[in-house]
Amino acid sequence: MTGTEGTGPNASRRAVVAAAGATCLAAALAACGDSGDASQPKEDSSAPDSGGDGAGAALAAAADIPVGGGKVFPDQKVVVTQPTEGEFKAYAAICTHQGSALNEVSGGTINCPLHGSKFAIADGSVKKGPATQPLPGKEVTVDGDSIKLG
Ligand code: FES
Repeated sequence: MTGTEGTGPNASRRAVVAAAGATCLAAALAACGDSGDASQPKEDSSAPDSGGDGAGAALAAAADIPVGGGKVFPDQKVVVTQPTEGEFKAYAAICTHQGSALNEVSGGTINCPLHGSKFAIADGSVKKGPATQPLPGKEVTVDGDSIKLG
């Protein structure tokens, strides 16, 4: 009887790992790729990325993005969409036809005011020309109720 699954040190270590996992869930894919190894006892670094918000500035609240629609953020030149509830996508808000700023999401498409091209909110593909190229995707992270670029 070696008792490797005892209740003493193993239990507390497991609790620390579980807490780290919960932090990862809360951070929603932010930087959890390498923090899951239990070899390093990071007890005090509760949120590795909370201090450095260089790429993590909140763009919007998740509630600001309508399901089945989206919102254009002209300053960041990005459009964030929510094709289905809880699924967020982001694209460069620059038309692939002649580079006009996209300014509207309606009717399930991201629309260009210049010549009327329309792009699908789900994947940025062209729904209506004259554009022929899809919108380039942007990476977006959902952190709690916040949507962040990167
Ligand atoms: S620039 Fe957008 S349709 Fe021409």
